[in-house]
Amino acid sequence: MPRPDRFEGMQVAGLILEDIRKGFGSTPVLKGVSLRVEPGEFVAVLGPSGCGKSTLMRIVAGIETPDAGRVTIQGRDVTRAHPGARDVAMVFQSYALYPHLTVAENIAVPLTMRRLSAIQRAPFLGGLFSAEQRRGIAADVARIAEPLGLTPLLHRRPGQLSGGQRQRVALARAVVRAPHVFLLDEPLSNLDAALRVATRREIVEIHRRVGAATLYVTHDQAEALTMADRIAVMQGGELLQLAPPAEIYDNPADIRVAGFIGSPRMNLLPAEARDDGMVMLAGRATGLLTRARGPLTLGIRPEAFFPAATGWAVRVAHSEYLGEATLLHTSLAGAELLLRAEPGLRATPGETLVVDFARAVLFGADGRRLGIEAAQHA
Ligand SMILES: Nc1ncnc2c1ncn2[C@@H]1O[C@H](COP(=O)(O)OP(=O)(O)OP(=O)(O)O)[C@@H](O)[C@H]1O
Ligand SMILES: [Mg+2]
Repeated sequence: MPRPDRFEGMQVAGLILEDIRKGFGSTPVLKGVSLRVEPGEFVAVLGPSGCGKSTLMRIVAGIETPDAGRVTIQGRDVTRAHPGARDVAMVFQSYALYPHLTVAENIAVPLTMRRLSAIQRAPFLGGLFSAEQRRGIAADVARIAEPLGLTPLLHRRPGQLSGGQRQRVALARAVVRAPHVFLLDEPLSNLDAALRVATRREIVEIHRRVGAATLYVTHDQAEALTMADRIAVMQGGELLQLAPPAEIYDNPADIRVAGFIGSPRMNLLPAEARDDGMVMLAGRATGLLTRARGPLTLGIRPEAFFPAATGWAVRVAHSEYLGEATLLHTSLAGAELLLRAEPGLRATPGETLVVDFARAVLFGADGRRLGIEAAQHA
């Protein structure tokens, strides 16, 4: 796809949030969130419902003011700046298009707002453009509509579009100004699965072209893992970890991240470090050495287990055939244990399997990840 020249050489900005705090009444909703989004970076914000994702987005957009903390865009402190003075574009789940305007006119709204002089913007004189201004706006609209597949729809009104088409019009309208910061709050939530995948690709493509610092809120982990440069995992108004997808998946910094990411999630098993540092699981040495002592939690992904001659004997409660794998529900050390096995594996309920595991992470009593000093093979 050709790169529209109006985006070329554009100076883009990073977004910096420092210790953002916000409460509604006596309820703290954001408890000191700090993060930095580099220019051109795509950060997905993941977290359970009510953890403060939308509130954070609204603070960046300027619709909400934080109780404390600082928002910096392109090196400028905008914490108290008006939304219109921030160069932030947003697409929210409940995108609102102007029903009486055509697709082209909807996309052009941010452009016309910017190009109108103060006099033209006066209520009785609105809509007065020179021919040259009109041509410029039309060219910008055409350029953004093309990659989003909206060219044939430019003369329709929102009521004559499907949900997915409307969503794309909202996207086009948000990025047509080439914003410095691009905020998307669950923009795909009302699309069907196929359209979601297609629009996901378009968003990544638009992001690449616009080069804005992007924050993308989603409930969908697969979306976050596939689209983002880094994932910000939030819970209860706190940012638990901000790292690339593989780092979040393989090395969760916090037991709450481990328990949230992955489907099915990571197994979290009660274990214990002996006086010599050997991590014991259900009375057996794991071969993992730590500096910690005493009780800890061993995190093992369901796919890290494999059948072995010696290892842990687990009893199968039931199995689920998933097509590409079989999920075995078992238990070990009094905790539920899920194993992802080959699809061909047929385990009958009540059967005992002997398994070992390839990778694991350790968490201390405070829930933070512990280092593994050495992994000896038993
Ligand atoms: N204006 C408000 N007044 C009072 N409480 C609010 C207000 N806005 C949000 N909250 C509360 O703040 C918390 C965080 O809300 P927020 O919308 O940021 O969550 P979220 O992470 O976006 O959730 P979801 O995934 O469901 O969209 C919720 O408990 C919500 O009820
Ligand atoms: Mg929300």
